[in-house]
Amino acid sequence: MKISDFYAYRKGARKISMVTAYDYVTARLAQESAVDCVLVGDSLAMVVHGYPSTTAATLEMMVPHVAAVRRGVKDKLLVADMPFLSFRKGKAAAVEAAGRLIQAGAEAVKLEGARGHEDAVAHLVQSGVPVMGHLGLTPQSVNAFGGYKVQGRGAKAAREMLRDAKTLEAAGCFALVLECVPEALAAKIARALRIPVIGIGAGPKTDGQVLVIYDLLGFYRDLSPRFNKKYLEGYALSVKALNRFDAETKGGQFPRKEHSYS
Ligand code: KIV
Repeated sequence: MKISDFYAYRKGARKISMVTAYDYVTARLAQESAVDCVLVGDSLAMVVHGYPSTTAATLEMMVPHVAAVRRGVKDKLLVADMPFLSFRKGKAAAVEAAGRLIQAGAEAVKLEGARGHEDAVAHLVQSGVPVMGHLGLTPQSVNAFGGYKVQGRGAKAAREMLRDAKTLEAAGCFALVLECVPEALAAKIARALRIPVIGIGAGPKTDGQVLVIYDLLGFYRDLSPRFNKKYLEGYALSVKALNRFDAETKGGQFPRKEHSYS
């Protein structure tokens, strides 16, 4: 899927799938799959670098990952996360940060929240940078939320989220991620917007779904959110493979003739 397919998106026509990638190998996996769109998420601070939250992600951290993923993803839309606070320092700083991600190979950026940086979103869009919004449990605000909790519960919070979603659409976002939101609210927001709404922990009635690749493949075990579905037991299978290598090395079964040079 390219950005033009997002602009032309018609509600109900098809669902959109998006997955994160962080390096050349995960990028190649995404490229070979039928998944529509690839995100270099700031989740890499946690699942690749081992930090406890995405607030540890910086531009310096993100840029080499975007470049590596670009080398593996050929014909899918590549979106990169704008890291913590990088879009809260004024329009010029937001353009500078987005520019570095685009020059590293992304075609669009994603940024969290709406209130207080609507002008930065609009300015990026007017500067030719496609922007994907992200509302709900925006992980960069984990300290303000007091943990990873479902957002948008209660009439006031739901009203505010719908308003923020409309603000982002009006500012020119081409799509919106909704994370950890009650499914009825996610469905209402998806119906209210013209742009596609991609859910993660937001139920089945959004226009698509996104998952973190290491959650989906079962490699990341520090957090196991209820919304994740493990399509592979990657961690357990990998430890098993390492143990076989260890046993065969110590038992003399590896390497064999076919692994050796004459
Ligand atoms: O950083 C990330 O991986 C994300 C997705 C979970 C949407 O923002």
